[in-house]
Amino acid sequence: MGKFQVMNHPLIQHKLTIIRNENCGTREFREVVNEIASLLAFEVSRDMPLEDVDVKTPQGIAHAKQLSGKKVAVVPILRAGIGMVDGILDLIPAAKVGHIGMYRDEKTLEPHEYFVKLPSDIDKRQIFVVDPMLATGGSAIMAIDALIKRGVDESNIKFVCLVAAPEGVEALQKAHGDVDIYTAALDDHLENGYIVPGLGDAGDRLFGTK
Ligand code: PRP
Ligand code: URA
Repeated sequence: MGKFQVMNHPLIQHKLTIIRNENCGTREFREVVNEIASLLAFEVSRDMPLEDVDVKTPQGIAHAKQLSGKKVAVVPILRAGIGMVDGILDLIPAAKVGHIGMYRDEKTLEPHEYFVKLPSDIDKRQIFVVDPMLATGGSAIMAIDALIKRGVDESNIKFVCLVAAPEGVEALQKAHGDVDIYTAALDDHLENGYIVPGLGDAGDRLFGTK
């Protein structure tokens, strides 16, 4: 079974409160989403494997460490996931970026895939699937289905979001039990497909499209 973790670092919680506020404008929302994504990436990458390496400093030889595991791919679920990419790349600049386009039918809440473009070696990478919102879980499940169809092993996927609903966590764990789930908050419930209290429509707030 994959991990489920609420990232309750004080900076993450403080910044999340800023973007939950309905008076937070597009510019600040966008900036703070990226800041939270960086902080989440710092926590999510905590278990990355290291290897020993000797490095010559100006004063001698340091017995040091360097990353030794799989290379990373960040895969945002469009649109709103794009808002988290730069923040993660600030910490992991060599990561490749794949995109999965997904929209929810407003009436049925069913997700529809409209775009998939991934690095050719996606099946060999550690993957961070990112989307600010995990509501019913439909979009995350279908995005991960798309990765599995292309040879990715579930255990190489970490799903990273800002706000999750209990319904979405349960659905995602049921569909893809080996995926680790990280969120900045686990909220109360869903109402008409929206997370309560949540932060509203993440895509609209990020891109100013309301
Ligand atoms: C939002 C959000 C997630 C999805 C979550 O995207 O960014 O992708 O809803 O809902 P779910 O867990 O019930 O599937 P939306 O479909 O509104 O598209 P957008 O990002 O283009 O605004
Ligand atoms: N998508 C959003 O952007 N917000 C929600 O609350 C649920 C799904």
